[in-house]
Amino acid sequence: MTAQILDGKAVAAHTRKYITEQVKKRYEQGRMPPGLAVVMVGSDPASQIYVRNKRRACEEVGFHSIAHDLPEDTSQEALLAIVDEFNNDPRIHGILVQFPLPDHMDSNAVLERIQPHKDVDGFHPYNLGRLAQRRPLLRPCTPYGVTLLLEHYKIHTRGMDATVVGASNHVGRPMVLELLLAGSTVTSCHRFTKDLQAKVSQADLLVVAVGKPGVVQSQWIKPGAIVVDIGINRGANGKLKGDVEFDTAKEIASMITPVPGGVGPMTIASLLQNTLYAAEHPQT
Ligand code: GUN
Repeated sequence: MTAQILDGKAVAAHTRKYITEQVKKRYEQGRMPPGLAVVMVGSDPASQIYVRNKRRACEEVGFHSIAHDLPEDTSQEALLAIVDEFNNDPRIHGILVQFPLPDHMDSNAVLERIQPHKDVDGFHPYNLGRLAQRRPLLRPCTPYGVTLLLEHYKIHTRGMDATVVGASNHVGRPMVLELLLAGSTVTSCHRFTKDLQAKVSQADLLVVAVGKPGVVQSQWIKPGAIVVDIGINRGANGKLKGDVEFDTAKEIASMITPVPGGVGPMTIASLLQNTLYAAEHPQT
Protein backbone atom coordinates (compact mmCIF):
# COMPACT_ATOMS: atom_id res chain seq x y z
CA MET A 1 0.00 0.00 0.00
CA THR A 2 1.26 3.46 -0.84
CA ALA A 3 -0.21 6.26 1.23
CA GLN A 4 -2.40 9.02 -0.13
CA ILE A 5 -0.54 12.33 -0.03
CA LEU A 6 -2.18 15.07 2.03
CA ASP A 7 -1.35 17.95 -0.28
CA GLY A 8 -1.00 21.03 1.92
CA LYS A 9 0.21 23.13 -0.98
CA ALA A 10 -3.01 22.53 -2.93
CA VAL A 11 -5.30 22.96 0.10
CA ALA A 12 -3.52 26.19 1.08
CA ALA A 13 -4.05 27.53 -2.46
CA HIS A 14 -7.74 26.70 -2.08
CA THR A 15 -7.86 28.56 1.26
CA ARG A 16 -6.09 31.58 -0.24
CA LYS A 17 -8.67 31.69 -3.04
CA TYR A 18 -11.51 31.69 -0.47
CA ILE A 19 -9.81 34.46 1.52
CA THR A 20 -9.22 36.55 -1.63
CA GLU A 21 -12.98 36.35 -2.31
CA GLN A 22 -13.79 37.46 1.23
CA VAL A 23 -11.42 40.43 0.91
CA LYS A 24 -13.13 41.39 -2.37
CA LYS A 25 -16.51 41.23 -0.63
CA ARG A 26 -15.27 43.57 2.09
CA TYR A 27 -14.00 45.92 -0.62
CA GLU A 28 -17.39 45.90 -2.38
CA GLN A 29 -19.05 46.73 0.93
CA GLY A 30 -16.70 49.70 1.32
CA ARG A 31 -14.82 48.08 4.19
CA MET A 32 -11.07 48.20 4.58
CA PRO A 33 -8.94 45.14 3.85
CA PRO A 34 -7.70 43.00 6.74
CA GLY A 35 -4.39 44.47 7.93
CA LEU A 36 -1.45 42.44 9.24
CA ALA A 37 1.71 43.86 10.80
CA VAL A 38 4.68 41.48 10.72
CA VAL A 39 7.51 42.54 13.02
CA MET A 40 10.94 41.01 12.83
CA VAL A 41 13.93 41.77 15.04
CA GLY A 42 17.43 40.89 13.79
CA SER A 43 18.34 38.87 10.71
CA ASP A 44 18.00 35.16 11.52
CA PRO A 45 18.11 33.60 8.02
CA ALA A 46 15.33 31.04 8.64
CA SER A 47 13.07 33.77 10.10
CA GLN A 48 13.76 35.98 7.09
CA ILE A 49 12.46 33.25 4.78
CA TYR A 50 9.36 32.59 6.93
CA VAL A 51 8.57 36.30 7.19
CA ARG A 52 9.03 36.85 3.47
CA ASN A 53 6.60 34.01 2.73
CA LYS A 54 4.03 35.39 5.19
CA ARG A 55 4.22 38.89 3.72
CA ARG A 56 3.97 37.55 0.17
CA ALA A 57 0.87 35.49 1.04
CA CYS A 58 -0.77 38.58 2.59
CA GLU A 59 -0.21 40.62 -0.52
CA GLU A 60 -1.49 37.83 -2.73
CA VAL A 61 -4.89 37.74 -0.98
CA GLY A 62 -5.20 41.54 -0.90
CA PHE A 63 -4.46 42.19 2.77
CA HIS A 64 -2.93 45.46 3.90
CA SER A 65 0.51 44.29 5.01
CA ILE A 66 2.98 46.27 7.09
CA ALA A 67 6.56 45.10 7.40
CA HIS A 68 8.57 46.27 10.38
CA ASP A 69 12.19 45.10 10.39
CA LEU A 70 14.17 46.14 13.44
CA PRO A 71 17.90 45.81 14.15
CA GLU A 72 19.19 43.05 16.46
CA ASP A 73 20.07 45.57 19.21
CA THR A 74 16.55 47.04 19.43
CA SER A 75 15.54 47.47 23.07
CA GLN A 76 12.62 45.60 24.59
CA GLU A 77 10.95 48.95 25.36
CA ALA A 78 11.20 50.04 21.71
CA LEU A 79 9.66 46.77 20.54
CA LEU A 80 6.84 47.06 23.08
CA ALA A 81 6.18 50.63 21.92
CA ILE A 82 5.79 49.38 18.33
CA VAL A 83 3.41 46.63 19.48
CA ASP A 84 1.38 49.31 21.32
CA GLU A 85 1.26 51.41 18.17
CA PHE A 86 -0.22 48.51 16.20
CA ASN A 87 -2.53 47.61 19.09
CA ASN A 88 -4.02 51.10 18.72
CA ASP A 89 -4.09 51.24 14.91
CA PRO A 90 -7.59 50.46 13.57
CA ARG A 91 -6.18 49.54 10.12
CA ILE A 92 -4.19 46.72 11.71
CA HIS A 93 -6.24 43.66 12.69
CA GLY A 94 -3.39 41.23 13.28
CA ILE A 95 0.08 41.58 14.81
CA LEU A 96 2.77 38.95 14.40
CA VAL A 97 6.16 39.26 16.08
CA GLN A 98 8.45 36.66 14.55
CA PHE A 99 10.25 34.35 16.98
CA PRO A 100 12.92 33.67 18.07
CA LEU A 101 13.63 37.14 19.45
CA PRO A 102 17.20 38.12 20.41
CA ASP A 103 18.36 36.81 23.82
CA HIS A 104 18.08 40.18 25.56
CA MET A 105 14.32 40.21 25.01
CA ASP A 106 11.58 38.60 27.07
CA SER A 107 9.44 36.78 24.48
CA ASN A 108 6.58 36.15 26.93
CA ALA A 109 6.32 39.83 27.80
CA VAL A 110 6.21 40.71 24.10
CA LEU A 111 3.52 38.23 23.15
CA GLU A 112 1.42 39.14 26.18
CA ARG A 113 1.58 42.80 25.12
CA ILE A 114 -0.26 42.02 21.85
CA GLN A 115 -4.00 42.59 22.28
CA PRO A 116 -5.52 39.07 22.33
CA HIS A 117 -7.99 39.96 19.55
CA LYS A 118 -5.02 40.93 17.32
CA ASP A 119 -2.89 37.91 18.27
CA VAL A 120 -3.06 36.12 14.91
CA ASP A 121 -0.32 33.69 15.98
CA GLY A 122 -2.70 32.45 18.69
CA PHE A 123 0.17 32.33 21.21
CA HIS A 124 -1.27 34.71 23.82
CA PRO A 125 -2.26 32.88 27.03
CA TYR A 126 -5.82 34.17 26.55
CA ASN A 127 -6.14 32.50 23.15
CA LEU A 128 -4.47 29.28 24.33
CA GLY A 129 -6.82 29.27 27.33
CA ARG A 130 -9.83 29.69 25.07
CA LEU A 131 -8.65 26.73 22.97
CA ALA A 132 -8.13 24.65 26.13
CA GLN A 133 -11.68 25.50 27.21
CA ARG A 134 -13.12 24.41 23.85
CA ARG A 135 -14.06 27.99 22.97
CA PRO A 136 -11.36 28.78 20.40
CA LEU A 137 -10.90 32.24 18.92
CA LEU A 138 -7.50 32.81 17.32
CA ARG A 139 -5.74 29.46 17.12
CA PRO A 140 -2.00 28.72 16.87
CA CYS A 141 -1.28 28.62 13.14
CA THR A 142 0.54 25.33 12.68
CA PRO A 143 -1.86 23.11 14.71
CA TYR A 144 -4.83 24.96 13.24
CA GLY A 145 -3.36 24.38 9.78
CA VAL A 146 -3.22 20.64 10.54
CA THR A 147 -6.89 20.74 11.62
CA LEU A 148 -7.88 22.54 8.40
CA LEU A 149 -5.91 20.03 6.32
CA LEU A 150 -7.56 17.03 8.02
CA GLU A 151 -10.98 18.66 7.66
CA HIS A 152 -10.38 19.31 3.97
CA TYR A 153 -9.77 15.59 3.41
CA LYS A 154 -12.85 14.80 5.53
CA ILE A 155 -10.74 12.87 8.02
CA HIS A 156 -12.90 12.50 11.10
CA THR A 157 -10.59 12.31 14.09
CA ARG A 158 -13.31 11.96 16.74
CA GLY A 159 -12.54 8.88 18.84
CA MET A 160 -9.23 8.22 17.10
CA ASP A 161 -6.14 7.30 19.08
CA ALA A 162 -3.77 10.16 18.28
CA THR A 163 -0.16 10.51 19.36
CA VAL A 164 1.61 13.85 19.22
CA VAL A 165 5.40 13.67 19.43
CA GLY A 166 6.88 16.97 20.64
CA ALA A 167 5.36 19.23 23.28
CA SER A 168 6.58 22.75 22.42
CA ASN A 169 4.48 25.73 23.50
CA HIS A 170 3.85 26.87 19.93
CA VAL A 171 3.21 23.57 18.17
CA GLY A 172 3.05 20.29 20.12
CA ARG A 173 0.92 21.44 23.07
CA PRO A 174 -1.66 23.39 21.06
CA MET A 175 -1.73 20.42 18.62
CA VAL A 176 -2.86 18.27 21.56
CA LEU A 177 -5.58 20.85 22.34
CA GLU A 178 -6.74 20.91 18.69
CA LEU A 179 -7.05 17.12 18.65
CA LEU A 180 -8.84 17.06 22.00
CA LEU A 181 -11.26 19.65 20.62
CA ALA A 182 -11.89 17.32 17.68
CA GLY A 183 -12.63 14.42 20.04
CA SER A 184 -9.46 12.33 19.64
CA THR A 185 -7.92 10.39 22.51
CA VAL A 186 -4.52 12.04 22.68
CA THR A 187 -1.14 10.85 23.91
CA SER A 188 1.44 13.62 24.26
CA CYS A 189 5.08 12.54 23.97
CA HIS A 190 8.11 14.60 24.94
CA ARG A 191 11.73 14.28 25.99
CA PHE A 192 10.82 12.41 29.21
CA THR A 193 8.53 9.90 27.51
CA LYS A 194 9.42 6.27 28.15
CA ASP A 195 9.05 3.79 25.29
CA LEU A 196 8.23 6.23 22.51
CA GLN A 197 7.92 3.32 20.09
CA ALA A 198 4.94 1.90 22.02
CA LYS A 199 3.12 5.25 21.96
CA VAL A 200 3.81 5.74 18.25
CA SER A 201 2.75 2.26 17.22
CA GLN A 202 -0.67 2.54 18.92
CA ALA A 203 -1.56 5.71 16.98
CA ASP A 204 -4.25 5.86 14.28
CA LEU A 205 -3.16 9.46 13.82
CA LEU A 206 0.50 10.30 14.35
CA VAL A 207 1.65 13.92 14.49
CA VAL A 208 5.39 14.53 14.74
CA ALA A 209 6.65 17.99 15.70
CA VAL A 210 10.17 17.73 17.06
CA GLY A 211 12.49 19.16 14.42
CA LYS A 212 14.81 16.15 14.42
CA PRO A 213 14.92 13.80 11.42
CA GLY A 214 14.47 10.16 12.33
CA VAL A 215 13.00 10.87 15.80
CA VAL A 216 10.25 8.43 14.80
CA GLN A 217 11.26 5.34 12.85
CA SER A 218 9.01 4.31 9.99
CA GLN A 219 8.73 0.72 11.19
CA TRP A 220 7.10 1.97 14.41
CA ILE A 221 4.13 3.36 12.47
CA LYS A 222 0.89 1.40 12.74
CA PRO A 223 -0.07 0.03 9.32
CA GLY A 224 -2.78 2.26 7.85
CA ALA A 225 -2.14 5.17 10.22
CA ILE A 226 -2.43 8.81 9.14
CA VAL A 227 0.94 10.55 9.50
CA VAL A 228 1.30 14.32 9.82
CA ASP A 229 4.91 15.50 9.75
CA ILE A 230 5.42 19.01 11.11
CA GLY A 231 9.24 18.88 11.20
CA ILE A 232 11.19 21.03 8.76
CA ASN A 233 14.86 20.11 8.61
CA ARG A 234 17.57 20.78 6.07
CA GLY A 235 19.38 17.66 4.93
CA ALA A 236 23.11 17.40 4.10
CA ASN A 237 22.18 17.86 0.42
CA GLY A 238 20.51 21.19 1.29
CA LYS A 239 17.01 19.82 0.66
CA LEU A 240 14.17 20.15 3.17
CA LYS A 241 12.96 17.03 4.94
CA GLY A 242 10.62 16.18 7.78
CA ASP A 243 11.01 14.31 11.06
CA VAL A 244 9.71 11.08 9.49
CA GLU A 245 11.50 9.29 6.67
CA PHE A 246 8.93 9.87 3.95
CA ASP A 247 9.89 7.15 1.45
CA THR A 248 9.58 4.30 3.95
CA ALA A 249 6.67 5.75 5.96
CA LYS A 250 4.48 6.17 2.86
CA GLU A 251 4.58 2.40 2.32
CA ILE A 252 3.08 1.80 5.79
CA ALA A 253 0.71 4.74 6.38
CA SER A 254 -2.65 5.21 4.66
CA MET A 255 -2.20 8.99 4.37
CA ILE A 256 0.84 11.19 4.88
CA THR A 257 1.93 14.81 4.59
CA PRO A 258 5.08 15.49 2.56
CA VAL A 259 7.84 17.94 3.52
CA PRO A 260 7.91 20.38 1.85
CA GLY A 261 4.35 20.89 0.63
CA GLY A 262 2.44 19.48 3.61
CA VAL A 263 1.94 21.37 6.87
CA GLY A 264 4.19 24.35 5.97
CA PRO A 265 1.82 25.98 3.46
CA MET A 266 -1.12 25.27 5.81
CA THR A 267 0.59 27.27 8.58
CA ILE A 268 0.55 30.36 6.37
CA ALA A 269 -3.01 29.62 5.21
CA SER A 270 -4.21 29.57 8.83
CA LEU A 271 -2.37 32.82 9.56
CA LEU A 272 -4.40 34.38 6.74
CA GLN A 273 -7.56 32.75 8.08
CA ASN A 274 -6.83 34.11 11.58
CA THR A 275 -6.19 37.60 10.20
CA LEU A 276 -9.47 37.55 8.28
CA TYR A 277 -11.22 36.36 11.47
CA ALA A 278 -9.61 39.18 13.46
CA ALA A 279 -10.75 41.73 10.87
CA GLU A 280 -14.29 40.33 10.92
CA HIS A 281 -14.41 40.33 14.73
CA PRO A 282 -12.67 43.53 15.90
CA GLN A 283 -13.03 44.35 19.57
CA THR A 284 -15.44 47.22 19.95
N1 GUN B 1 8.91 31.32 14.38
C1 GUN B 1 8.77 30.10 13.82
N2 GUN B 1 7.46 29.83 13.59
C2 GUN B 1 6.77 30.92 14.01
C3 GUN B 1 5.39 31.25 14.02
O1 GUN B 1 4.51 30.49 13.60
N3 GUN B 1 5.08 32.47 14.52
C4 GUN B 1 6.02 33.34 14.98
N4 GUN B 1 5.62 34.51 15.47
N5 GUN B 1 7.31 33.05 15.00
C5 GUN B 1 7.68 31.85 14.50
